[in-house]
Amino acid sequence: MEYKILSNGVKMPQLGYGVYQVTKEECERCVLDALKAGYRSIDTAQSYFNEEEVGNAIQKSGISREEIFLTTKVWIEHYGYEASKESVEESMRKLQVDYIDLMLLHQPFADYYGAWRALEDLYEEGKIRAIGISNFYPDRMIDLASFARIKPMVNQIEIHPHNQQIKAKEWNEKYGLQLEAWAPFCEGRGGMFEEAVLEEIGAKYGKTTAQVILRWHIQRGIVVIPKSTHFERMVENFNVFDFTLTQEDMDKIATLDKKESSFFSHYDPNMVEWFVKMVEERKKQHDSSKEKKSW
Ligand SMILES: NC(=O)c1ccc[n+]([C@@H]2O[C@H](COP(=O)([O-])OP(=O)(O)OC[C@H]3O[C@@H](n4cnc5c(N)ncnc54)[C@H](OP(=O)(O)O)[C@@H]3O)[C@@H](O)[C@H]2O)c1
Repeated sequence: MEYKILSNGVKMPQLGYGVYQVTKEECERCVLDALKAGYRSIDTAQSYFNEEEVGNAIQKSGISREEIFLTTKVWIEHYGYEASKESVEESMRKLQVDYIDLMLLHQPFADYYGAWRALEDLYEEGKIRAIGISNFYPDRMIDLASFARIKPMVNQIEIHPHNQQIKAKEWNEKYGLQLEAWAPFCEGRGGMFEEAVLEEIGAKYGKTTAQVILRWHIQRGIVVIPKSTHFERMVENFNVFDFTLTQEDMDKIATLDKKESSFFSHYDPNMVEWFVKMVEERKKQHDSSKEKKSW
């Protein structure tokens, strides 16, 4: 395993396992498999609705808490100071831990300053070892990094060969944030696993396209958290520390950059409205389930 040292000195594994879109039913088995395959860093989020299953797997694995680097994320409907603080406590209950290694603000919308102040306080209380952000593009990242009391240590954004984030990488490095790639394989969209350039490079080293992609991220100094529900793929994705891409390989992969999101743009007003509506819907559901409980 290779590690990155965050700006506050915390050591973070450069390869972890992500559980977005892993169902509640499958999550415990998947995390146990990932730990068996050798992963010691797990990335979940309040909005993935599987923190409890991640916690169960960690408990059942028998691996000591200190050996695991656990990341989760505060979802927008929990933004604001008080709600964020409560939601972090709730995440810790679900994950069955008394500290979190890395807590991220999931999206740059709503009262993220209030939420950030909550993370700053929990960090200083020793309940979170590192704090960071996700989906903060350079404009919002610079704003928060400049005006907040404590600078974020990590920024988790979409990065893969079709969206290499060259500019964002420069800005995050300038402000001392460690970049972490979500969807390191672009979830297989846009023919990512069939890219001829990646297949050709892989053939030279006896490696798969997936392994070439992860190695490329690692050599760029980026933290990766690939997801798979298949044990063989978890093992495959973990075996990326025994070969090195040449500068020529890296240059060839650089030509695959389409310089735009393969998912959606955080700058698109329609997308921001979609987030607003989703939060309103979830709040309504939450309030009506609270009403039912009090009957
Ligand atoms: N902060 C955010 O907003 C955000 C957004 C998205 C994701 N994330 C985080 O980033 C993690 C990774 O991103 P992601 O899950 O969206 O996508 P991803 O890791 O880019 O891709 C996952 C897809 O690739 C397939 N796959 C995995 N390994 C493979 C291999 N060796 N060969 C062929 N196919 C393979 C998986 O299939 P199988 O599962 O069927 O094997 C799955 O369909 C997430 O789990 C989550 O923790 C964060």
